[in-house]
Amino acid sequence: MRSSFIALSHNRALRHFCEHSRVGVRLSSRFVAGMELEDALRVAEAVNRQGMAVTLDSLGESVTSEMEAHQAADVYHKLLDAVAARKLKANISLKLTQTGLELSAGLAEDIALNLTQHALAVGSFVRIDMEDSRLTQTTLDVVRRIHARRDLRDSIGVVIQAYLYRSQADIEQLLADHIRVRLCKGAYNEPAEVAFPRKTQVDANYVKLAQMLLESPVYHALATHDEPMIAAAKSFAERKGIGRDRFEFQMLYGVRRDLQSALVREGYNVRVYVPFGREWYPYFMRRLAERPANVVFLARNLFRS
Ligand code: FDA
Repeated sequence: MRSSFIALSHNRALRHFCEHSRVGVRLSSRFVAGMELEDALRVAEAVNRQGMAVTLDSLGESVTSEMEAHQAADVYHKLLDAVAARKLKANISLKLTQTGLELSAGLAEDIALNLTQHALAVGSFVRIDMEDSRLTQTTLDVVRRIHARRDLRDSIGVVIQAYLYRSQADIEQLLADHIRVRLCKGAYNEPAEVAFPRKTQVDANYVKLAQMLLESPVYHALATHDEPMIAAAKSFAERKGIGRDRFEFQMLYGVRRDLQSALVREGYNVRVYVPFGREWYPYFMRRLAERPANVVFLARNLFRS
């Protein structure tokens, strides 16, 4: 089921139909803040009022021209200005294929560098999302080069996926470089040559990698909705005397709001990943892949309204 949804996430015809149909747009609102930048800012304000920070994702990936890459960057520059003007507790999450990585690594890096400089100027932060394993090394290299500029050290971080065998070695290197990490399980279809095939193996690796991050002096993020993962991190931090302000939990907009609020009440830092924009289809399909029961939920809502 999971791989079928991920395969469908690449289907161009279905994507075009969904992104342009009214029903599709309505369904997307389960996981997407809205189509416009203003929708995302409104949601960010509401999430901030509930005591949680935000990371904003202007949806889009795998651009096919330099012009599209620059257009994507413009949206993020506008976001950073709006975050500063409205004093939001928010940073940005960016995919390098959206800034042209598959056209030219130099183009994607230049755009990410400009955005990181802008983030520094307004006191924000750029998180580079991680895409499929073909792009892991290039993505890490880009982040490492930008982070190596002294002034930008606190303004950029990356994502590591616990399902990849290589992730422990990557985390060791990132910790040595003091680079901020968001740890997630991983959302793409990966072959058994590069990724643990079973959930139990991914979970065990997630717990191990989370402990490595928690013990480091750098502020990292644990992105998961999985209660056993969260419980394991909480009890490890407790045992080791690691303060609740030394790391944050991150969850996706529209997923486990109850858990988000419970963590806030317990005094943990929580950040919600808020995606917006017209190119919502691949993101949406990955969310269905994670929990096929969402399809039933969406279908029920569709027929109810
Ligand atoms: P798991 O998938 O095992 O789910 C555990 C439980 O969480 C489920 O039983 C269900 O209750 C709930 N749940 C999970 N997903 C749900 C959904 N879609 N709808 C409803 N309930 C759901 N991936 C990646 O490859 N690169 C990246 O850069 C990122 N970035 C990122 C940022 C943030 C803030 C989050 C939370 C996640 C990501 N991810 C990601 C996605 C991540 O890799 C993973 O696919 C999802 O978080 C689902 O994994 P869980 O850890 O939640 O566990």
